[in-house]
Amino acid sequence: MKIVRFFAFATASLAALLAFPAGAQDTVKIGLILPMTGPFASTGRQIETAVKLYMQQHGTTVAGKKVELIVKDDGGVADTTRRIAQELVLNDKVAFLAGFGLTPLALATAPIATQAKIPMIVMAAATSAITEQSPFVTRTGFTLPQVTQPMAEWAAKNGIKKVVTLVTDYGPGIDAETTFRKVFAAAGGEVVESLRVPLRNPDFAPFLQKVHDLAPNAVFVFVPAGVGSIFMKQFTERGLDKSGIKLLGTGDVTDDDILNDMGDVALGVVTTFHYSAAHPSPANKAYVEAFGKASNGMRPNFHSLGGYDGMALIYHALEATKGSTDGEALMNAMKGYTWESPRGPVAIDPSTREIVQNVYVRKVEKVNGQLWNVEFQTIPAVKDPGKTAK
Ligand code: DHB
Repeated sequence: MKIVRFFAFATASLAALLAFPAGAQDTVKIGLILPMTGPFASTGRQIETAVKLYMQQHGTTVAGKKVELIVKDDGGVADTTRRIAQELVLNDKVAFLAGFGLTPLALATAPIATQAKIPMIVMAAATSAITEQSPFVTRTGFTLPQVTQPMAEWAAKNGIKKVVTLVTDYGPGIDAETTFRKVFAAAGGEVVESLRVPLRNPDFAPFLQKVHDLAPNAVFVFVPAGVGSIFMKQFTERGLDKSGIKLLGTGDVTDDDILNDMGDVALGVVTTFHYSAAHPSPANKAYVEAFGKASNGMRPNFHSLGGYDGMALIYHALEATKGSTDGEALMNAMKGYTWESPRGPVAIDPSTREIVQNVYVRKVEKVNGQLWNVEFQTIPAVKDPGKTAK
Protein backbone atom coordinates (compact mmCIF):
# COMPACT_ATOMS: atom_id res chain seq x y z
CA MET A 1 0.00 0.00 0.00
CA LYS A 2 2.76 2.38 1.02
CA ILE A 3 4.77 1.48 -2.08
CA VAL A 4 1.80 2.10 -4.34
CA ARG A 5 1.32 5.51 -2.78
CA PHE A 6 4.97 6.31 -3.19
CA PHE A 7 4.87 5.44 -6.88
CA ALA A 8 1.68 7.38 -7.38
CA PHE A 9 3.33 10.39 -5.75
CA ALA A 10 6.57 10.02 -7.72
CA THR A 11 4.70 9.72 -11.01
CA ALA A 12 2.53 12.72 -10.26
CA SER A 13 5.57 14.83 -9.33
CA LEU A 14 7.42 13.82 -12.45
CA ALA A 15 4.39 14.67 -14.55
CA ALA A 16 4.25 18.06 -12.86
CA LEU A 17 7.94 18.61 -13.52
CA LEU A 18 7.57 17.71 -17.17
CA ALA A 19 4.53 19.91 -17.61
CA PHE A 20 6.29 22.88 -15.93
CA PRO A 21 10.04 22.33 -16.48
CA ALA A 22 11.13 25.35 -14.47
CA GLY A 23 8.38 25.16 -11.85
CA ALA A 24 7.71 28.46 -10.11
CA GLN A 25 10.52 30.09 -12.10
CA ASP A 26 8.10 30.53 -14.96
CA THR A 27 6.13 33.15 -13.06
CA VAL A 28 7.52 36.56 -12.17
CA LYS A 29 5.56 38.17 -9.36
CA ILE A 30 5.25 41.91 -8.82
CA GLY A 31 4.11 43.04 -5.37
CA LEU A 32 2.23 46.33 -5.75
CA ILE A 33 1.65 48.03 -2.37
CA LEU A 34 -0.70 51.01 -2.44
CA PRO A 35 -3.00 53.05 -0.22
CA MET A 36 -6.33 51.70 -1.56
CA THR A 37 -8.25 52.92 1.51
CA GLY A 38 -7.92 55.97 3.76
CA PRO A 39 -7.29 59.64 2.88
CA PHE A 40 -4.79 58.83 0.10
CA ALA A 41 -6.85 56.16 -1.67
CA SER A 42 -7.01 58.26 -4.85
CA THR A 43 -3.27 57.63 -5.32
CA GLY A 44 -3.83 53.87 -5.05
CA ARG A 45 -6.78 53.94 -7.42
CA GLN A 46 -4.85 55.91 -10.04
CA ILE A 47 -1.76 53.70 -9.93
CA GLU A 48 -3.64 50.39 -9.86
CA THR A 49 -5.69 51.43 -12.90
CA ALA A 50 -2.56 52.45 -14.82
CA VAL A 51 -0.58 49.30 -13.95
CA LYS A 52 -3.45 47.06 -15.04
CA LEU A 53 -3.93 49.12 -18.20
CA TYR A 54 -0.24 48.65 -19.07
CA MET A 55 -0.55 44.88 -18.60
CA GLN A 56 -3.73 44.78 -20.65
CA GLN A 57 -2.04 46.67 -23.48
CA HIS A 58 1.31 44.82 -23.41
CA GLY A 59 0.28 41.32 -22.36
CA THR A 60 1.35 39.30 -19.34
CA THR A 61 4.18 37.29 -20.92
CA VAL A 62 7.60 38.92 -20.87
CA ALA A 63 10.80 37.18 -22.02
CA GLY A 64 8.92 33.87 -21.87
CA LYS A 65 7.79 34.45 -18.27
CA LYS A 66 4.29 34.90 -16.97
CA VAL A 67 3.97 38.20 -15.10
CA GLU A 68 1.67 38.05 -12.08
CA LEU A 69 0.52 41.15 -10.20
CA ILE A 70 -0.26 41.02 -6.46
CA VAL A 71 -2.00 44.20 -5.25
CA LYS A 72 -2.00 44.92 -1.49
CA ASP A 73 -3.60 47.78 0.44
CA ASP A 74 -1.47 49.41 3.15
CA GLY A 75 -4.09 52.08 4.00
CA GLY A 76 -1.27 54.66 3.90
CA VAL A 77 0.26 53.34 7.17
CA ALA A 78 4.03 52.75 7.15
CA ASP A 79 4.06 49.80 9.59
CA THR A 80 1.54 48.03 7.37
CA THR A 81 3.59 48.72 4.24
CA ARG A 82 6.67 47.20 5.88
CA ARG A 83 4.81 44.09 7.06
CA ILE A 84 3.21 43.57 3.63
CA ALA A 85 6.58 43.99 1.89
CA GLN A 86 8.11 41.35 4.18
CA GLU A 87 5.28 38.92 3.44
CA LEU A 88 5.53 39.53 -0.30
CA VAL A 89 9.25 38.79 -0.21
CA LEU A 90 9.19 35.77 2.13
CA ASN A 91 5.89 34.07 1.25
CA ASP A 92 5.09 35.15 -2.29
CA LYS A 93 8.72 35.37 -3.46
CA VAL A 94 8.07 38.51 -5.52
CA ALA A 95 10.78 39.68 -7.93
CA PHE A 96 9.76 43.35 -7.67
CA LEU A 97 8.31 45.58 -4.97
CA ALA A 98 6.37 48.51 -6.41
CA GLY A 99 3.90 51.28 -5.56
CA PHE A 100 4.50 53.44 -2.41
CA GLY A 101 1.92 56.20 -2.27
CA LEU A 102 3.60 58.38 0.35
CA THR A 103 7.17 59.10 1.44
CA PRO A 104 7.01 57.38 4.89
CA LEU A 105 5.76 54.19 3.20
CA ALA A 106 8.71 54.12 0.80
CA LEU A 107 11.20 54.89 3.58
CA ALA A 108 9.82 52.00 5.68
CA THR A 109 10.35 49.53 2.83
CA ALA A 110 13.78 50.50 1.46
CA PRO A 111 15.75 48.39 4.02
CA ILE A 112 13.77 45.31 2.93
CA ALA A 113 14.72 45.91 -0.71
CA THR A 114 18.39 46.11 0.32
CA GLN A 115 18.26 42.95 2.42
CA ALA A 116 16.38 40.90 -0.15
CA LYS A 117 18.25 42.44 -3.13
CA ILE A 118 14.92 43.05 -4.84
CA PRO A 119 14.26 46.08 -7.10
CA MET A 120 11.87 48.56 -5.52
CA ILE A 121 10.04 50.82 -7.98
CA VAL A 122 8.79 53.98 -6.27
CA MET A 123 5.80 55.13 -8.33
CA ALA A 124 4.40 58.02 -6.22
CA ALA A 125 6.45 59.05 -3.17
CA ALA A 126 8.54 62.07 -4.15
CA THR A 127 10.99 63.11 -1.42
CA SER A 128 14.42 63.34 -3.01
CA ALA A 129 16.24 61.30 -0.34
CA ILE A 130 14.23 58.09 -0.93
CA THR A 131 16.50 56.75 -3.67
CA GLU A 132 19.52 57.22 -1.39
CA GLN A 133 18.14 54.71 1.13
CA SER A 134 18.96 51.63 -0.98
CA PRO A 135 20.85 50.80 -4.20
CA PHE A 136 17.78 48.73 -5.13
CA VAL A 137 15.42 51.73 -5.27
CA THR A 138 14.51 53.50 -8.49
CA ARG A 139 11.73 56.00 -9.18
CA THR A 140 9.25 56.53 -12.02
CA GLY A 141 7.25 59.46 -10.57
CA PHE A 142 9.18 62.63 -9.80
CA THR A 143 10.90 64.49 -6.99
CA LEU A 144 9.76 67.73 -5.38
CA PRO A 145 13.07 69.57 -5.99
CA GLN A 146 12.79 68.59 -9.69
CA VAL A 147 9.39 70.25 -10.18
CA THR A 148 9.86 73.13 -7.69
CA GLN A 149 13.05 74.61 -9.12
CA PRO A 150 11.34 75.69 -12.40
CA MET A 151 8.50 77.31 -10.40
CA ALA A 152 10.89 79.48 -8.38
CA GLU A 153 12.69 80.50 -11.57
CA TRP A 154 9.43 81.27 -13.39
CA ALA A 155 8.12 83.36 -10.46
CA ALA A 156 11.30 85.46 -10.29
CA LYS A 157 11.19 86.07 -14.05
CA ASN A 158 7.53 87.11 -13.95
CA GLY A 159 7.65 90.07 -11.63
CA ILE A 160 6.98 88.23 -8.36
CA LYS A 161 9.20 89.59 -5.59
CA LYS A 162 7.68 88.54 -2.24
CA VAL A 163 6.42 85.00 -1.62
CA VAL A 164 5.03 83.03 1.32
CA THR A 165 5.53 79.26 1.07
CA LEU A 166 2.81 76.96 2.43
CA VAL A 167 3.58 73.22 2.44
CA THR A 168 2.42 69.99 4.02
CA ASP A 169 4.74 69.26 6.93
CA TYR A 170 6.67 66.13 5.90
CA GLY A 171 9.42 65.05 3.47
CA PRO A 172 8.12 66.27 0.10
CA GLY A 173 6.80 69.53 1.60
CA ILE A 174 10.15 70.28 3.23
CA ASP A 175 11.90 69.48 -0.09
CA ALA A 176 9.56 71.89 -1.90
CA GLU A 177 10.00 74.65 0.69
CA THR A 178 13.80 74.31 0.80
CA THR A 179 14.15 74.27 -2.99
CA PHE A 180 11.79 77.21 -3.52
CA ARG A 181 13.55 79.35 -0.90
CA LYS A 182 16.99 78.62 -2.28
CA VAL A 183 16.25 79.04 -6.00
CA PHE A 184 13.97 82.07 -5.55
CA ALA A 185 16.55 83.87 -3.39
CA ALA A 186 19.30 83.13 -5.93
CA ALA A 187 17.06 84.68 -8.63
CA GLY A 188 16.58 87.86 -6.57
CA GLY A 189 13.24 87.09 -4.86
CA GLU A 190 12.40 86.94 -1.16
CA VAL A 191 10.47 84.32 0.79
CA VAL A 192 9.00 86.34 3.65
CA GLU A 193 7.51 83.42 5.59
CA SER A 194 7.43 79.61 5.39
CA LEU A 195 4.33 77.91 6.78
CA ARG A 196 3.88 74.16 7.35
CA VAL A 197 0.50 72.41 7.66
CA PRO A 198 0.04 68.93 9.24
CA LEU A 199 -0.27 65.91 6.91
CA ARG A 200 -3.21 64.31 8.74
CA ASN A 201 -6.57 66.16 8.79
CA PRO A 202 -5.18 69.47 7.54
CA ASP A 203 -6.94 72.73 8.41
CA PHE A 204 -5.57 75.46 6.16
CA ALA A 205 -7.69 78.29 7.57
CA PRO A 206 -5.25 79.71 10.18
CA PHE A 207 -2.35 79.47 7.72
CA LEU A 208 -4.33 81.17 4.96
CA GLN A 209 -5.23 83.96 7.40
CA LYS A 210 -1.49 84.44 7.96
CA VAL A 211 -0.88 84.55 4.20
CA HIS A 212 -3.64 87.13 3.86
CA ASP A 213 -2.10 89.32 6.61
CA LEU A 214 1.42 89.11 5.15
CA ALA A 215 0.09 90.22 1.73
CA PRO A 216 2.87 88.77 -0.46
CA ASN A 217 2.76 88.91 -4.29
CA ALA A 218 2.20 85.15 -4.32
CA VAL A 219 1.79 82.06 -2.15
CA PHE A 220 3.69 78.95 -3.26
CA VAL A 221 1.89 75.75 -2.25
CA PHE A 222 2.67 72.06 -1.97
CA VAL A 223 0.03 69.57 -0.82
CA PRO A 224 0.00 65.84 -1.66
CA ALA A 225 -2.41 64.41 -4.27
CA GLY A 226 -6.08 64.54 -3.29
CA VAL A 227 -5.65 67.38 -0.76
CA GLY A 228 -5.92 70.18 -3.36
CA SER A 229 -9.73 70.31 -3.16
CA ILE A 230 -9.76 71.06 0.59
CA PHE A 231 -7.05 73.65 0.08
CA MET A 232 -8.90 75.39 -2.75
CA LYS A 233 -12.17 75.41 -0.81
CA GLN A 234 -10.53 77.11 2.17
CA PHE A 235 -8.60 79.46 -0.13
CA THR A 236 -11.94 80.73 -1.48
CA GLU A 237 -13.67 80.78 1.92
CA ARG A 238 -10.91 83.06 3.24
CA GLY A 239 -11.36 85.34 0.24
CA LEU A 240 -7.81 84.83 -0.96
CA ASP A 241 -9.01 84.33 -4.52
CA LYS A 242 -10.04 88.01 -4.52
CA SER A 243 -7.05 89.33 -2.55
CA GLY A 244 -4.68 89.82 -5.48
CA ILE A 245 -2.27 87.26 -3.97
CA LYS A 246 -1.30 84.93 -6.81
CA LEU A 247 -1.46 81.19 -6.26
CA LEU A 248 1.57 79.21 -7.43
CA GLY A 249 2.47 75.60 -6.75
CA THR A 250 3.77 72.30 -7.93
CA GLY A 251 1.09 70.50 -9.94
CA ASP A 252 0.03 68.37 -6.95
CA VAL A 253 -2.40 71.14 -5.92
CA THR A 254 -4.22 71.12 -9.28
CA ASP A 255 -4.17 67.31 -9.47
CA ASP A 256 -6.01 66.21 -12.63
CA ASP A 257 -8.01 63.67 -10.63
CA ILE A 258 -9.88 66.44 -8.76
CA LEU A 259 -9.24 69.62 -10.77
CA ASN A 260 -12.52 69.61 -12.63
CA ASP A 261 -14.50 69.62 -9.36
CA MET A 262 -12.64 72.62 -7.92
CA GLY A 263 -14.64 75.17 -9.87
CA ASP A 264 -13.57 78.51 -11.28
CA VAL A 265 -11.38 79.34 -8.24
CA ALA A 266 -8.70 77.20 -9.92
CA LEU A 267 -8.73 79.27 -13.14
CA GLY A 268 -5.39 80.94 -13.79
CA VAL A 269 -3.41 78.99 -11.17
CA VAL A 270 0.16 78.54 -12.46
CA THR A 271 2.01 75.36 -11.57
CA THR A 272 5.09 73.48 -12.72
CA PHE A 273 4.94 69.71 -13.17
CA HIS A 274 6.00 66.68 -15.15
CA TYR A 275 2.51 65.63 -16.25
CA SER A 276 -0.75 67.14 -17.36
CA ALA A 277 -3.65 65.11 -18.75
CA ALA A 278 -3.82 67.90 -21.35
CA HIS A 279 -0.27 67.20 -22.63
CA PRO A 280 -0.75 67.58 -26.39
CA SER A 281 1.02 64.48 -27.74
CA PRO A 282 -0.57 61.57 -29.64
CA ALA A 283 0.82 59.14 -27.02
CA ASN A 284 -0.90 61.08 -24.25
CA LYS A 285 -4.19 61.43 -26.09
CA ALA A 286 -4.25 57.65 -26.52
CA TYR A 287 -3.32 57.17 -22.85
CA VAL A 288 -6.04 59.50 -21.51
CA GLU A 289 -8.63 57.79 -23.69
CA ALA A 290 -7.58 54.24 -22.74
CA PHE A 291 -7.37 55.18 -19.04
CA GLY A 292 -10.87 56.65 -19.16
CA LYS A 293 -12.23 53.51 -20.78
CA ALA A 294 -10.53 51.32 -18.17
CA SER A 295 -11.92 53.32 -15.25
CA ASN A 296 -15.47 54.48 -15.90
CA GLY A 297 -14.30 57.83 -17.20
CA MET A 298 -11.65 58.77 -14.64
CA ARG A 299 -9.04 61.31 -15.77
CA PRO A 300 -5.45 60.07 -15.24
CA ASN A 301 -3.33 62.13 -12.86
CA PHE A 302 0.47 62.32 -12.44
CA HIS A 303 0.59 59.36 -10.03
CA SER A 304 -0.98 57.14 -12.69
CA LEU A 305 2.06 57.85 -14.89
CA GLY A 306 4.37 56.65 -12.11
CA GLY A 307 2.50 53.33 -12.28
CA TYR A 308 2.29 53.10 -16.07
CA ASP A 309 5.96 53.96 -16.61
CA GLY A 310 6.98 51.78 -13.66
CA MET A 311 5.56 48.84 -15.58
CA ALA A 312 7.37 49.95 -18.76
CA LEU A 313 10.60 49.89 -16.75
CA ILE A 314 9.89 46.46 -15.22
CA TYR A 315 9.00 44.95 -18.62
CA HIS A 316 12.16 46.43 -20.15
CA ALA A 317 14.35 45.07 -17.34
CA LEU A 318 12.91 41.55 -17.70
CA GLU A 319 13.45 41.63 -21.46
CA ALA A 320 17.04 42.79 -20.96
CA THR A 321 17.85 40.01 -18.46
CA LYS A 322 16.03 37.49 -20.70
CA GLY A 323 13.67 36.75 -17.85
CA SER A 324 16.29 36.40 -15.09
CA THR A 325 15.07 37.83 -11.78
CA ASP A 326 18.52 38.45 -10.34
CA GLY A 327 18.03 41.77 -8.51
CA GLU A 328 21.36 43.28 -9.45
CA ALA A 329 20.98 42.34 -13.12
CA LEU A 330 17.50 43.91 -13.15
CA MET A 331 18.80 47.12 -11.54
CA ASN A 332 21.62 47.34 -14.09
CA ALA A 333 19.12 46.93 -16.91
CA MET A 334 17.01 49.79 -15.56
CA LYS A 335 19.88 52.25 -15.24
CA GLY A 336 20.12 54.44 -18.33
CA TYR A 337 16.89 53.16 -19.91
CA THR A 338 15.24 55.81 -22.10
CA TRP A 339 11.68 55.67 -23.38
CA GLU A 340 8.72 57.70 -24.62
CA SER A 341 6.07 58.14 -21.93
CA PRO A 342 2.66 59.81 -22.35
CA ARG A 343 4.24 62.65 -20.30
CA GLY A 344 7.09 63.08 -22.86
CA PRO A 345 10.62 61.61 -23.15
CA VAL A 346 11.99 60.03 -19.94
CA ALA A 347 15.17 58.26 -18.80
CA ILE A 348 16.53 56.64 -15.64
CA ASP A 349 19.66 58.50 -14.55
CA PRO A 350 22.23 55.69 -14.13
CA SER A 351 24.03 57.41 -11.24
CA THR A 352 21.01 58.41 -9.09
CA ARG A 353 18.32 55.93 -10.33
CA GLU A 354 16.00 58.96 -10.57
CA ILE A 355 13.76 59.71 -13.53
CA VAL A 356 14.93 62.50 -15.87
CA GLN A 357 12.01 64.27 -17.55
CA ASN A 358 10.60 67.49 -18.97
CA VAL A 359 9.01 69.88 -16.51
CA TYR A 360 6.19 72.02 -17.92
CA VAL A 361 4.86 75.39 -16.79
CA ARG A 362 1.05 75.22 -16.93
CA LYS A 363 -1.97 77.40 -16.25
CA VAL A 364 -5.48 76.19 -15.37
CA GLU A 365 -7.84 77.06 -18.23
CA LYS A 366 -11.34 76.11 -19.23
CA VAL A 367 -11.41 74.14 -22.46
CA ASN A 368 -14.76 72.84 -23.78
CA GLY A 369 -16.33 73.48 -20.38
CA GLN A 370 -13.72 71.50 -18.42
CA LEU A 371 -10.75 72.63 -16.34
CA TRP A 372 -7.30 71.53 -17.56
CA ASN A 373 -3.66 72.28 -16.71
CA VAL A 374 -2.65 73.77 -20.07
CA GLU A 375 1.12 73.62 -20.68
CA PHE A 376 2.71 76.77 -22.10
CA GLN A 377 6.43 76.30 -21.53
CA THR A 378 8.78 73.29 -21.42
CA ILE A 379 12.02 72.89 -19.49
CA PRO A 380 13.59 69.82 -21.09
CA ALA A 381 15.29 66.83 -19.42
CA VAL A 382 15.31 68.03 -15.79
CA LYS A 383 17.30 65.88 -13.34
CA ASP A 384 16.58 65.76 -9.61
CA PRO A 385 18.49 68.77 -8.25
CA GLY A 386 17.98 67.41 -4.73
CA LYS A 387 21.04 65.19 -5.15
CA THR A 388 23.49 67.96 -6.01
CA ALA A 389 21.93 70.69 -3.87
CA LYS A 390 23.13 69.14 -0.60
C1 DHB B 1 4.04 62.52 -1.97
C2 DHB B 1 2.70 62.14 -2.12
C3 DHB B 1 1.91 62.79 -3.05
O1 DHB B 1 0.63 62.44 -3.25
C4 DHB B 1 2.42 63.83 -3.82
O2 DHB B 1 1.61 64.45 -4.70
C5 DHB B 1 3.75 64.21 -3.67
C6 DHB B 1 4.55 63.56 -2.74
C7 DHB B 1 4.90 61.86 -0.97
O3 DHB B 1 4.39 61.43 0.08
O4 DHB B 1 6.11 61.74 -1.21
